[in-house]
Amino acid sequence: MLNFEVINPTRIIFGKDQLERLPQLINDFSKKKRILLAYGGGSIKSTGLFNKLMIHLKDFEVVEFGGIEANPQFTTLMKGVELAREKDIDFILAVGGGSVIDGVKFMTGAFHYKGDPYEVLKRTEGCVFTQAISFGTFLTLPATGSEANSGAVISRDELKEKLTMGGPLFFPKFSFCDPTVVATLPKRQLANGIVDAFMHTLEQYLTYPTDNLLQERQAEGILQTLIEIASEVIEHPNNYKLASNLMACATHALNGNLRCGVPTDWTTHMIGHELTAMYGIDHARTLAIIAPRLYENQFENKKEKLTQYGKRVWNLQGTSEEIAKEAIVKTEMFFQRLGIHTKISDYSADTDHIAEVIKTRFIDRGWNAMGERQAITPSDVESIVLHAI
Ligand code: NZQ
Ligand code: ZN
Repeated sequence: MLNFEVINPTRIIFGKDQLERLPQLINDFSKKKRILLAYGGGSIKSTGLFNKLMIHLKDFEVVEFGGIEANPQFTTLMKGVELAREKDIDFILAVGGGSVIDGVKFMTGAFHYKGDPYEVLKRTEGCVFTQAISFGTFLTLPATGSEANSGAVISRDELKEKLTMGGPLFFPKFSFCDPTVVATLPKRQLANGIVDAFMHTLEQYLTYPTDNLLQERQAEGILQTLIEIASEVIEHPNNYKLASNLMACATHALNGNLRCGVPTDWTTHMIGHELTAMYGIDHARTLAIIAPRLYENQFENKKEKLTQYGKRVWNLQGTSEEIAKEAIVKTEMFFQRLGIHTKISDYSADTDHIAEVIKTRFIDRGWNAMGERQAITPSDVESIVLHAI
């Protein structure tokens, strides 16, 4: 087992009908009783969640900041930062999916930052967030795990960039994870959520065999649970048993637990972010496009683990080689069964130069040796993308 150190200070309040806890939880962090309520494009209002929240926020001055897009945009978020500064806010409540929660993480750091916060995202030398205001979340879409981790991904459409940030300052103080929100999710977002949670697990599992028996079984447990419930939860999002298992899987897949003592990959995500930046393809869909091609490209490096995955998760039989190959096919078919296309050309006809552009971006950022063995080169990335077209 590899050495590891882990901390996760986020209080997870999992389950339904727990909103009466909200005022006290905010009071623990907001001295001014004046909070920013951040949300997305409006689902919070059409689902009735906004009204429910306001009942519990009656003793606070609530400043609304709506309109955070899917793949939250730097320019929009900076408007939120300005509003928070103007209103002298000391706590933000993020109500939404990964985009709203990620956007709020960025806003909490940018709030105190004196220079251009985009330089922090670009990782310009000397540019870091050193303070952040407190925030909590009410999750409305089980997918990213953002409610339980300290990472965020921020987009800037005019530059066609999507950049990551994070660090210990950006753990939510608390997150409400109420599975009843699943009932109002469109099928497309449900499928996305399943694939994103599945891929977070694979990024921390499909590497090479380790002697961390517990962590491998935990990852396999999440994968098997997602496979078991996927089709049913899409058809019956009102079913609390299915919805709560989906939400538990998504949170556990990226709350820091699965990575303890094991190698991780994350290259599928890094390539996927580029596809979202260039084509606006939903995050989870980019992963479904890239993962099968990356596993083919890295077949020899990942063969042992692909075989374990094929045997234990998909109950495959045959030689190691056969099982490993079939495991990739099963994974892609699983995504397709959820209605997710797995080729770039399914989303855009304009695919000229894309592989070369992504390769160059990797080189420019110094990402020359990716993956659990640092074996994935920019040329491999180019080849993976070419095969994904
Ligand atoms: O904006 P509204 O109107 O709220 O509608 C949203 C949005 O259009 C809708 N929605 C959310 N909850 C709903 C609902 N509609 C009906 N009922 C509900 N209960 O769903 C749409 C998509 O929401 P979004 O937040 O964009 O989806 P998701 O949670 O998949 O987040 C994706 C973002 O998270 C980043 C992705 O890159 C992407 O930008 N990620 C963040 C990670 C992290 N912080 O750890 C890890 C991930 O790998 C990922 O990169
Ligand atoms: Zn993801």
